Amino acid sequence: MLSVRNLVVSGGKGSAQIDIVSDVSFEIERGKVLGLVGESGSGKSITSLAVMGLLPHPQLWVRGGSIELDGADITEEPPYLRVERGHGGVAMIFQEPMTSLNPVLPIGEQIVEAVRVHDGSTGVTARNRAQELLDMVRIPDARLQLNAYPHELSGGMRQRVMIAIALACRPQALIADEPTTALDVTVQLQVLSLIRELCDTFDMGVLFITHDLGVVSELADSVAVMYGGKIVETGPVERLFNTPLHPYTAGLMGCVPDPSAGHRRFQTIPGQAPKPGEITHGCRFAPRCSHAQAICSDDAPTRVTEGARHFAECHFPISRGA
Ligand SMILES: Nc1ncnc2c1ncn2[C@@H]1O[C@H](COP(=O)(O)OP(=O)(O)OP(=O)(O)O)[C@@H](O)[C@H]1O
Ligand code: SF4
Ligand SMILES: [Mg+2]
Repeated sequence: MLSVRNLVVSGGKGSAQIDIVSDVSFEIERGKVLGLVGESGSGKSITSLAVMGLLPHPQLWVRGGSIELDGADITEEPPYLRVERGHGGVAMIFQEPMTSLNPVLPIGEQIVEAVRVHDGSTGVTARNRAQELLDMVRIPDARLQLNAYPHELSGGMRQRVMIAIALACRPQALIADEPTTALDVTVQLQVLSLIRELCDTFDMGVLFITHDLGVVSELADSVAVMYGGKIVETGPVERLFNTPLHPYTAGLMGCVPDPSAGHRRFQTIPGQAPKPGEITHGCRFAPRCSHAQAICSDDAPTRVTEGARHFAECHFPISRGA
């Protein structure tokens, strides 16, 4: 439904121009959640901002690739413009709702504004729709809460309000960039189950960005793993967790503490992720990869396939005996 093909996002000027996101492709299907995971700086947020048409201009721009929604190219009419023109499309929520909500306006007014921008309704109609949206995101006493200011709500409730604003445009797809990172674990689980429920109820595709593999295993149907601005592995969630092909994916899993393993120290991936433009030859993971061989630093790995929907970019994928 939302299809991103060979996306390249660049930054910098003249000869200092570098690619921050390189050749990224993925698809978001209706009623399914795609988890996008990777270390800090791997390009997850830049990818999602490119899809939304919200890259900071002129520092960053889309240099190549295509972004299609239901077969229509949306690079000319990005999602935020589609919403303003009442076309629906793709909505986005961010990590810290306080930075997106206006602190001096009651939340009801902010949701009414989103409703007005989307379908032009005003007055009682728009207020009723705002209440319906708060009900949808399971805010108790929705009619009363319309008058609350953002600071009167908990972090979890504020994130629900952001989801209600996103739903005001009846999106076909929702991009959620680390929406639960700032929440404590119990509230995090409630917001995750709400997102799953909305995805199922409205047959909405979700791109869920996180660095937390536990969250991905709870929520996602499939996973794309990003490293150094590229997607290095993608596949159905169980397949990718049970039989990772890429050493980086396997390394990320080694970094997840396992409570059943007693006090054993959990493994980390040595070294640091490359900065954009730092590695121009071969595999970007090579300096940190325990499977690396000479070819890895010289030649960019090509795609390997394990089953219909499981791909990785590696010269020596794990399940093939490297
Ligand atoms: N406005 C900008 N101009 C130039 N480079 C940028 C800009 N914004 C981000 N970058 C760089 O792009 C790279 C990818 O950043 P991005 O924010 O997408 O990472 P991320 O995967 O979302 O990380 P995190 O998990 O910390 O949110 C980083 O190296 C960052 O320094
Ligand atoms: S291509 Fe080589 S360096 Fe890169 S992940 Fe695979 S084995 Fe490691
Ligand atoms: Mg980010």
